[in-house]
Amino acid sequence: MKLFLDSAVLSEVEEAFSWGVVEGVTTNPSLLKKAVEKNQGDLELYIRSILKAAKPFPVSLEVTKSNVEEVVAEAKALFKMFNHTARNVCIKIPICLSDDEDSLLSGLKSISEVSKLKIPVNATLIFTPEQALLAAKAGAKFVSPFVGRLDDFIRDSASVKYSKDDYFPAEGLSSKGVVLNDEGIVSGVDLVRRCSLIIKKHGLSTEVIAASIRNPRQVRECAEAGAHIATLPFSVIKKLVVHKKTFEGVKKFSEDTVKEYEGLTKK
Ligand code: E4P
Repeated sequence: MKLFLDSAVLSEVEEAFSWGVVEGVTTNPSLLKKAVEKNQGDLELYIRSILKAAKPFPVSLEVTKSNVEEVVAEAKALFKMFNHTARNVCIKIPICLSDDEDSLLSGLKSISEVSKLKIPVNATLIFTPEQALLAAKAGAKFVSPFVGRLDDFIRDSASVKYSKDDYFPAEGLSSKGVVLNDEGIVSGVDLVRRCSLIIKKHGLSTEVIAASIRNPRQVRECAEAGAHIATLPFSVIKKLVVHKKTFEGVKKFSEDTVKEYEGLTKK
């Protein structure tokens, strides 16, 4: 499973790529808003710097409009404006743009039209395997099921109290003898597992990006569930290396190092 960085903060992108384990970046309007609030300045230059820092790996930039014509125009404009910088722009399009009956399929149509233009698309806000299947069939290069937000939705629907970083079991939570679920999906990780399974089983070339990840354990579970990629906040990538016994071991080995051994590399 590849790891992407889920951030629009340039310093985080630069640092994360220096670790040699990150192979892409995902942004969304909320992440960009946070970055802009921190760094006043020219947004166009700022985005170009992110693209250069991530080169040659893909960077997802999300559309913001809500009908097919406008989304396709925005996708084309973003791609034209930014792709020549580092040839790594991917356009993120929600699978649904509106819950208005007449425009239910506008996200799907946009994904299809933009993909036909040979612009790589990351179909986002995926909450069912059916949405993932449709987006894949429409030509999306990536589909992004939202793990943490689905866990929140399942808990909210059953009025379970929680805080955002609380672990949510991959196999689901039981309440009053019933496993809580959303149309048979028992957790965000379960959603990722089912999306990955369908895409592999039917030979589709789309890659599944496990998104909306809140903690290291979800990263492990998404890898086990067969996700091609997990996109992680900077703080979660850092937490992946942490274990109390590792720190204890390093301290003890350092204390036990004999002078003769240290001397070998000083010559
Ligand atoms: C990435 O593609 C998503 O936009 C992001 O992971 C959403 O994360 P959140 O649910 O923590 O906001």
